[in-house]
Amino acid sequence: CTKKDLIGKKVLVTAGPTREKIDPVRYITNHASGKMGYAIAEAARDRGADVVLISGPTSLPRPVGVDFVAVESVQEMFDAVMEALPDSDIVIKSAAVSDYRPRTVYDHKMKKGDGELVLELDKAPDILKTIGERKANQFLVGFAAETQDLLENAKSKLERKNLDMIVANNVLTEGAGMGSDTNIVTLMSRSGEQVELAQMSKRAVADKLFDAIGLLSGQGSLR
Ligand code: C5P
Repeated sequence: CTKKDLIGKKVLVTAGPTREKIDPVRYITNHASGKMGYAIAEAARDRGADVVLISGPTSLPRPVGVDFVAVESVQEMFDAVMEALPDSDIVIKSAAVSDYRPRTVYDHKMKKGDGELVLELDKAPDILKTIGERKANQFLVGFAAETQDLLENAKSKLERKNLDMIVANNVLTEGAGMGSDTNIVTLMSRSGEQVELAQMSKRAVADKLFDAIGLLSGQGSLR
């Protein structure tokens, strides 16, 4: 893709998993690789945008030519996103953010006992929902990684979180979702339009995503 349609635009992307500490040696996380978000950041950069990439821990090389902010916990990602938000035109939240976090983070390694262990979890702040409540003119894109009722869940997320678009993917499908180099997604706009994309590289998905954002913010429709 050689389009330079994002010159002068500021794009904020989140990527990767988060890590919620239990004690100094243990944490709760998920299988997100960061590949989708990094591909989005690189596509935005190549189309001329100024890009801020806020990333949880991944094994990917840092993309050159983007502002990179490394975070671990939901709270760190929340703080970094809220700081960058006022200066952003397009916000794409592809990170797989933890929904819950341990109520207590122990200062020392927890000892084994004889019986079972129950870990208490509190709700973590929903970054995307908070952006949806605070946003001014930003074009806001969320992700819905689902294992069932994909499109229904994506639609309700889009509405509940006040998004302009949502990218829905079934993470159980081969060639889609976490860790894979390819993805199979459906783009859904606020007005209910849907575009189902074939299996393609995450970079190609990223370019389709920016094509769709361009169409929606220009003519107000995906077709
Ligand atoms: O409702 P659910 O967590 O599945 O929604 C997924 C979307 O919400 C993703 O875009 C993800 O980055 C975002 N999210 C978030 N903060 C959370 C949980 C999810 O920003 N605590």
